[in-house]
Amino acid sequence: MEKETIYILAIESSCDDTSAAVLQGDKVLSNVVATQKIHEQYGGVVPELASRAHQQNIVPVVHQALAEANIDKKLVSAIAFTRGPGLMGSLLVGTSFAKSMSLGLGVPLIAVNHMQAHILAHFIADEKSTPPSFPFLAMTISGGHTQIVLVKNYFDMEIIGETLDDAVGEAFDKSAKLLGLPYPGGPLIDRHAQHGNPNAFVFPKPKVAGLNFSFSGLKTSILYFLQKKTAENPDFIKTHLNDICASIQHRIVTILMDKLQKAVKETGIKEIAIGGGVSANSGIRKALMEMEATHEWRTHIPRLEYCTDNAAMIGIVGYYKFKENDFSKQTVSAKARFSI
Ligand code: KG4
Ligand code: ZN
Repeated sequence: MEKETIYILAIESSCDDTSAAVLQGDKVLSNVVATQKIHEQYGGVVPELASRAHQQNIVPVVHQALAEANIDKKLVSAIAFTRGPGLMGSLLVGTSFAKSMSLGLGVPLIAVNHMQAHILAHFIADEKSTPPSFPFLAMTISGGHTQIVLVKNYFDMEIIGETLDDAVGEAFDKSAKLLGLPYPGGPLIDRHAQHGNPNAFVFPKPKVAGLNFSFSGLKTSILYFLQKKTAENPDFIKTHLNDICASIQHRIVTILMDKLQKAVKETGIKEIAIGGGVSANSGIRKALMEMEATHEWRTHIPRLEYCTDNAAMIGIVGYYKFKENDFSKQTVSAKARFSI
């Protein structure tokens, strides 16, 4: 089948975004994302509420993706879906839906690893950017993941560093919560940080061996710092919010950049690809640009809509798997823990 005539319908439901996309070859025809707002009031994703919302959203989201792509579902060549990792209840909704649809349409089923998808999102056709060349280092940073992966080829990847506890997005969100900011607080920390002094306060750097990360200690040190400061001055957070945010962001960015620099040194690879929702962070983007200028790194950041959880990235993996005839059976099951 010609590249142009391969149509992949992709479904993503691993966490709190219900998404469906249609790809023609490596080109995205539609990418619909229903973000679940219900979790905001709880300050984090509530798994049971997430699966219920996926159940409500999945039919209209798939319908909209097909309508926006303006193709008849009879043209679909295969159904790709997120098998894992993620929340079991959420994954089950997408998995069951994809299986039924593949049976109904009589087309193959393609199981996709969500973490591979964050990385292969860089290969979605886009006139504004060129994909990384192999081998490259991929750093996936979001509310659910923090990994550095050595990518040798489309399906030849090796995790060389990952978080031992919280993901970097959680570190942002939990810090924001301590400051009384609403969920998800990462973008708010970023906004305040842009008006603050990154060296106003110094938060400790975790000592973690190799290329792994740890963020739980940072959260605890911020908690103790704020308790002490607000005991002295109840208005401390209000009057120093920009400086606190800038200092927290500065520490998180230096933790990420130090490990990335270490990975570059160990592997000799200067081709860097960043993905996940936290790649929107202005401090990280600035630090990467500095490394491009001073250390000749070549960095790639996909459009934000392909960085955050979305089905287009599941579709691009589906496309590459389709070309390799890598299909799944109807007996395939969702996998909450699923390594690359
Ligand atoms: O990839 P994503 O949309 O969802 C998953 O977690 O899978 O990432 C969301 C995470 C949240 O933790 C959010 O606070 C963080 O990305 N985030 C940011 C920024 N924009 C989103 N963190 C720091 N600075 C930002 N500008
Ligand atoms: Zn993700």
